Amino acid sequence: MPAKKNAKCACSQLQQHRGKFEPVLPTILKKGPAAVKAKSGKATKSVADQATVKKIFPNTYGLPEITFVKGANNGACKKAVRVGVVLSGGQAPGGHNVIAGLLDGLKKANSKNKLFGFLGGPSGIVENKFVEITPALMKEYRNTGGFDLIQSGRTKIETDEQLKAAKDNLLANKMDALVVVGGDDSNTNACVIAEYLKQQGVEVSVIGVPKTIDGDLKNKQIETSFGFDTATKIYAELVGNILRDVNSARKYWHFVRLMGRSASHITLEVAFKTHPNAVLIGEEVLAKKMTLSQVVDGLAQLIAKRAKAGKNFGVVLVPEGLIEFIPEMKELISALNDSLADHEAELAKMNTVAEKKEFILSILPAKLAALMKSLPDGIAAQLMLDRDPHGNVQVSLIETEKLLVEMLRTQLAGMKKDGKYDGKFSAITHFFGYEGRCGVPSNFDANYTYALGYNAAILALNKCTGYLSSVRKLSKKAQDWECGGIPLTMMMNIERRKGKEKPVIKKALVELKGEPFKHLAKNRADWAVNDQYVFPGPIQFFGPAEVTDMTTFTLMLEQGKKIK
Ligand code: FBP
Repeated sequence: MPAKKNAKCACSQLQQHRGKFEPVLPTILKKGPAAVKAKSGKATKSVADQATVKKIFPNTYGLPEITFVKGANNGACKKAVRVGVVLSGGQAPGGHNVIAGLLDGLKKANSKNKLFGFLGGPSGIVENKFVEITPALMKEYRNTGGFDLIQSGRTKIETDEQLKAAKDNLLANKMDALVVVGGDDSNTNACVIAEYLKQQGVEVSVIGVPKTIDGDLKNKQIETSFGFDTATKIYAELVGNILRDVNSARKYWHFVRLMGRSASHITLEVAFKTHPNAVLIGEEVLAKKMTLSQVVDGLAQLIAKRAKAGKNFGVVLVPEGLIEFIPEMKELISALNDSLADHEAELAKMNTVAEKKEFILSILPAKLAALMKSLPDGIAAQLMLDRDPHGNVQVSLIETEKLLVEMLRTQLAGMKKDGKYDGKFSAITHFFGYEGRCGVPSNFDANYTYALGYNAAILALNKCTGYLSSVRKLSKKAQDWECGGIPLTMMMNIERRKGKEKPVIKKALVELKGEPFKHLAKNRADWAVNDQYVFPGPIQFFGPAEVTDMTTFTLMLEQGKKIK
């Protein structure tokens, strides 16, 4: 159930004021769904593996892109509709505003339209657990962080039983549409549901909304996922505070691992906002085929160089997915993924990590078993943890920053012996992830999510299915944003998950030829030794627009804007 509403609001002062913030709607949506028409473009293709993706999604493949244009569309608002919404996967700031935008869009179209929230993520659809989202219930959640209005979950709806239960429940509740708010995996699942419903001749539209702090659900059509802006601002505030502490005390090296799953977008954006001494980018490590010891050696050289200048302090940013990008580790993880999937039942019967490790070591190829044996016990155990329902390694639980510090201690001790280093290495480790996922959404995220929700309502009213809500031209002011829908199959390719080839939305990793990475490459040597620290401070909700409304450096660089 959603949190109980009290007669007296237990809200903070900020929450009370923030509740009054009215998100800016793009002009095209401002007059409501009755004044918006859906203009279809050309048929589309998936980004890769076209024949296979088409075979798996015969009913939702090749749909045209949709752009919303001005035009009378009273037809879409005549019949009262019932729409379900589900929040899927990790929390991201702005989820509540997606629901608010959806509710307001539906009510503007027809006051009899109803919105229902499935509880606890996709399992709520299968188990038929939902609550009606009324304007009164919504009130306290407008412009707040978190997903607690209806909670979230990581269930993947994939078995025949689950798909049938979802269909039966949608039909029994007379739903006209289902809106899935999720990342790449959840939106892949949204497409699987859309395809299944079409195949079954069920007229329930399925619409996705691009959510994830990781920033990896983006492409030509989806400029960013929601939550990335707020989360990176929160992490940057924390990293900025550490930089100032470092610069004041001048005695510690801090190793900060930042969330983001495989992609290093969060790390890159936080680096732009703070200018730390070293920034590891997983995608670069992979491209340069760097070994773990080469990564450690690069850091050790920097630590020695700074020590020579009397600076036994600094800050290193580490993306949480780094470990997956080190080629030898990548190979080990991929072999582990297959072994864990192939021997799931046998492993489930084993009680201790040691027992599991011994079994895994006995089935891995010798080279990979040797690598696994060379890792500290804690890291080896973390690599063997269960994969999530979508087959992903739970990188948030792998303490790479501690592994790096441990290896650096050994390396620096060796360098000291050889007379190549004469400093003091006191290291402190941090992991920032959960701290940023439920933050109060920035103005950008509050506006973006509200527009995404309102836009999703219009897609649903126009009976579009298999689409992702798309709001574009995001480096412009919110009123000038463009709106429409992108076919989910257009973003798909085939990847190996849980030992099988599966269609999934292609993850956007940091591109080494892209402007954001080039900006890092140009500046990092200076940041490494010259202490160009920047302290961004907390997100501002009130004050000059250049502070309250600024968005990410990543988005600006990607859209050709110059930054300092
Ligand atoms: P989504 O891809 O579902 O948005 O998840 C984002 C994320 O925060 C990742 O950055 C992180 O690796 C993962 O969730 C952690 O998962 P969990 O919330 O299950 O611990």
